[in-house]
Amino acid sequence: MCGIVAYIGKEQAFPIILKGLKRLEYRGYDSAGIALINQDQLNVFKKAGKVSNLEEFMLHQDHNGTSGIGHTRWATHGAPTDTNAHPHVSMDGSIALIHNGIIENYNALKQELIRQGYLFKSETDTEVLVHLVDFISKKENVWFGEALRLALLNVVGAYAIVAISKNFPGQMVAARKSSPLVVGIGENGDFYLASDATPIVEYTKRVVYLEDEEIAVIKLGEELKIYNISDQEKTPYIQQLELELEALEKGGYDHFMLKEIHEQPRSIHDCFRGRLNSSEGWVSLGGLKEYEQKMIQAKRLVIVACGTSWHAGLVGEYLIEELARINVEVEYASEFRYRNPIISEEDVVIAISQSGETADTLAALELAKSKGATILGICNVVGSSISRITDAGSYTHAGPEIGVASTKAFTAQVTILSLLALSLAHKKGTISESEFRILIAELEAIPEKVQRVLENNADIEKIALEFKDVTNALYLGRGSLFPVALEGALKLKEISYIHAEGYPAAEMKHGPIALIDENMPIFVIATQGNSYEKVVSNIQEVKARKGKIIAIVTEGDEHLKEIADYHIEIPKSHEFFVPILATIPFQLISYHIAVMRGCNVDQPRNLAKSVTVE
Ligand code: AGP
Ligand code: GLU
Repeated sequence: MCGIVAYIGKEQAFPIILKGLKRLEYRGYDSAGIALINQDQLNVFKKAGKVSNLEEFMLHQDHNGTSGIGHTRWATHGAPTDTNAHPHVSMDGSIALIHNGIIENYNALKQELIRQGYLFKSETDTEVLVHLVDFISKKENVWFGEALRLALLNVVGAYAIVAISKNFPGQMVAARKSSPLVVGIGENGDFYLASDATPIVEYTKRVVYLEDEEIAVIKLGEELKIYNISDQEKTPYIQQLELELEALEKGGYDHFMLKEIHEQPRSIHDCFRGRLNSSEGWVSLGGLKEYEQKMIQAKRLVIVACGTSWHAGLVGEYLIEELARINVEVEYASEFRYRNPIISEEDVVIAISQSGETADTLAALELAKSKGATILGICNVVGSSISRITDAGSYTHAGPEIGVASTKAFTAQVTILSLLALSLAHKKGTISESEFRILIAELEAIPEKVQRVLENNADIEKIALEFKDVTNALYLGRGSLFPVALEGALKLKEISYIHAEGYPAAEMKHGPIALIDENMPIFVIATQGNSYEKVVSNIQEVKARKGKIIAIVTEGDEHLKEIADYHIEIPKSHEFFVPILATIPFQLISYHIAVMRGCNVDQPRNLAKSVTVE
């Protein structure tokens, strides 16, 4: 995890780095730190807690300098203290370095450096890097950039690193392996580095995404140079950013999460724009088209993902199996990669990831690739690591998602999976032309229906008020709505710290029913469709034990309105697309409860947006 940002040029570095850290704070907020070079001085500022703590502290200090590095940390090794905060500095005070990732062999390196007389101040794995660079530069008599390259030959693990030295004030060196790093090339010969493009877009749209084991060498007044770890020079591949600055602001909402929830009519529409046409009757996922026949012929499709993206995968499994009759398995990426899975060239492995950087998902794909499988991706972040290593893929086009709790990315992932299921089914002939056309038209109508669900916000807020103080909650759904129950429970846990569980409605009687009493809210998705009657029976079972039912019902369902303690209506829609609609009230419930409980909605404790560590 961790966010990295750096600047070197003619401007003051502090405001640029500070703003960048705020944009990257979703990646971790255990501590923050900045090192600045001011003439021949290296000044380092570090504070536990949020970037605002560091800002407060630095405003009263001399923070001049036109070159600097900044870091916002999600601790892996060592508590979130001032000392463990990055940047870490060499013993002679000349080199400062920031790191995102984990140095797996840090202990062996540390012991060796201690034998060489190095003293460690922090408990982090990162500190070995700075001492190792210092050690090598002195031993080999090389500048710190070359020392970093040599040091990395001895390092096992994942890293994005930026280093500066007060002895070389116009220079900056960066390297990456498995953790992301982007270099922005400014118009006035200045350079910006960051974990993603959000701190850069304001200043330049020309960027280079570093590849694994590449080292960027920046010298003011010269062009950007890229080398591989064996010191061979490579030509930088400069890309044009498509990101717009407004997409990174709150736009009048109190929180990014609320803004992102409300953006869904548009983000879902953006997701299928140009990919579906109901009047002409076609669906086309350009990026995956070439691989559709392969998917149809595959022994099975394996979806790998984590968290919310894994929930989207479960909805996808239901849709693809039902519509296209292709065998789908959905795996937690972290489990898949460590259990020697049986994978061959006949399998197609699809990763789903908002960030496109999740370490476990990335590693699962690499494993599948090494076993000969075709690997595909469904990502939100353009240019992310997963989107770059996959054979092909589709972007969700939901726009930047900054709230740590995923909302619009989930509904966009489900939209892509719906398009994929429809496209495969059409190509394979498992649905009739008329059925296909009806479904496309239904999907096309979803953004407007999402808008109608959002209009129930005030009623949903009232329900939230009733349940804001509970300690437990249960979420129930069946079929493709079971993953929606899981997602509802995850949202509540993540941002309001209320223990919640998602269950297939029928499983309740096999255990969780023991938890039900008059204090327990049970959120049930009870929309009309195949298993409606069964879910109504499950609701009766809860009522008989005095549990409080909050039912998501189809508009006009008078019967359930009578039975349920509270209800939230969603517009009638084809069953396949109800998962998208039913998700919205759960997002809003969690949001309002978290706000009422005084929780930090956009940056819930202990979490980070993009989990780039195992
Ligand atoms: C979502 O609300 C979570 N914070 C988390 O579960 C997330 O979905 C998971 O870490 C996967 O992230 P990704 O989609 O970026 O791979
Ligand atoms: N391992 C480093 C630390 O704990 C960096 C953490 C990270 O990138 O998440 O400080």
